[in-house]
Amino acid sequence: MIAGAAWAAYAFADNPASTPVAGVVVTVVAGIPAGQRQLVQQGQYLASAGDCIACHTAKGGKPFAGGLGIASPIGKIYSTNITPDKDTGIGNYTLEDFDKALRHGIAKNGVTLYPAMPYVSYAKVKPSDVKALYAFFMYGVQPASQANKAADIPWPLSMRWPLSFWRMMYAPPVLTDESSASNDPVLRGKYLVEGLAHCSACHTPRALTLQERSLTDDGKWFLSGGVIDGYLAKSLRGDVNDGLGSWSEAEIVEFLKSGRTAHSAAFGGMAEVVEDSTQHMSDADLTGIARYLKTLAPLTAGQKAMVYDDSAAKALRTGSGRGNGALTFLDNCAACHRTTGNGYGRTFPKLAQSTTINTADPTSLIHLVLLGGQMPSTRTAPTHYGMPGFDDRLTDRDVADVLTFVRSSWGNHAPAVSAEQVAKVRRAVGAAGQPKRAEND
Ligand code: HEC
Ligand code: HEC
Ligand code: HEC
Repeated sequence: MIAGAAWAAYAFADNPASTPVAGVVVTVVAGIPAGQRQLVQQGQYLASAGDCIACHTAKGGKPFAGGLGIASPIGKIYSTNITPDKDTGIGNYTLEDFDKALRHGIAKNGVTLYPAMPYVSYAKVKPSDVKALYAFFMYGVQPASQANKAADIPWPLSMRWPLSFWRMMYAPPVLTDESSASNDPVLRGKYLVEGLAHCSACHTPRALTLQERSLTDDGKWFLSGGVIDGYLAKSLRGDVNDGLGSWSEAEIVEFLKSGRTAHSAAFGGMAEVVEDSTQHMSDADLTGIARYLKTLAPLTAGQKAMVYDDSAAKALRTGSGRGNGALTFLDNCAACHRTTGNGYGRTFPKLAQSTTINTADPTSLIHLVLLGGQMPSTRTAPTHYGMPGFDDRLTDRDVADVLTFVRSSWGNHAPAVSAEQVAKVRRAVGAAGQPKRAEND
């Protein structure tokens, strides 16, 4: 038997590259069986790569005790308790039971899980990694007694049997061999992106029946952008204007590790992914991910690279830019993002020639301007620089005009944003109603 704190110290001192899951105090539950320590430690690293904590922890709740509400098209689903508590968690799960849930989407009692649990991605986790994850959840996580909540889904939609048809139609076969244990960084990156890190759960568009349009890079839709929780998880393919074609491998690594680069910052769901998951990955794994992403062909062939154009900056400085978009930008945005659109590196992101801004779908930008955002706090970049929300200051027309201005200035060339698009996002994300303006305002 080895005391929790001592084990934690051992685990982290022994391998400085592996770091604790964010905010989780690791305690040993029942003593780690001989020869499993290394495995538990490896499982802990994998649990942060898989970001289990993000969904399986309620706001302010005990780590991994479940109860977080996740919106779905048919109602709210709650994540379950995956601590090793024997009555309310998965303490009685064998490795086989755990594997069945994790990779096949089938709970111990035989029912099919909602695909909100990304088992279609986890199907590509190799058996030895499943074993390590199991060891971590049995011996590295504090048991918490917390009963699972039933989903808020009305009958007849609440019946689970249609889920098993969905699973049979869309779940890929699980990985049975260890072949992905390759030392080739690109193959390691592909293994993580398609599998445990489940990047495609957010970044791949879904069909009407909600399956991802492609689960591997065999399909051109893979990682080509999807909308999740009112944000566009944009394309990660090779397009230069709205993909990652213009990002270097080092910039992708820096973004995933620190949540920012000289020209961009993580926001919305991605800020949480960086904070809970990718910042804890080793440099070797992040490099593999970046190198793999750089192999993805553009969705649209032949995009021309953006070139900086200083006419908007000149017009703003000389006062000749008098449209509502330019004026709204000067009054509300220029202090941080500057009239040049270049911002301040790693503090206030650059808006000029930005892949975030040049997406056809403006959902993320509208959401951010209405509700503001905060960069993730990471070990290498701890400061949460923030942007205020403008929902109570700017009308739908103002937001549309300022974003249209941003999307057509400094070399950016993305489609205009309409007031109707802003109104739709304003309702969907629960922002304040439009401000009332006095007649002479
Ligand atoms: C995107 C959200 C999400 C992520 C990430 C996630 N889960 Fe889940 N998980 C869920 C939801 C939601 C359920 C419950 C589904 C249901 O009730 O049908 C679930 C169910 C489970 C179950 C079944 C538990 C039971 O009571 O039978 C296990 C085991 C599980 N998850 C383990 C994991 C592990 C391990 C990870 C990380 C490698 C993980 N999950 C990551 C959302 C998630
Ligand atoms: C929970 C949903 C979610 C998951 C999972 C997720 N992302 Fe994201 N990602 C987003 C959203 C939303 C954005 C847009 C906001 C932003 O740019 O930060 C984004 C943006 C990005 C960007 C910035 C691209 C740009 O051009 O600005 C990169 C790079 C990225 N994600 C990589 C990844 C990788 C690699 C993974 C898997 C390890 C991943 N993401 C997993 C939601 C997600
Ligand atoms: C107080 C400084 C500040 C002000 C004022 C401000 N922003 Fe921001 N902006 C930021 C910060 C910080 C971020 C990064 C937020 C995050 O990561 O969550 C950001 C992010 C952005 C992004 C995403 C860029 C990227 O690559 O991730 C856009 C677009 C944007 N701001 C537009 C605007 C517009 C339009 C206005 C005016 C209506 C504005 N901002 C006002 C500080 C500011």
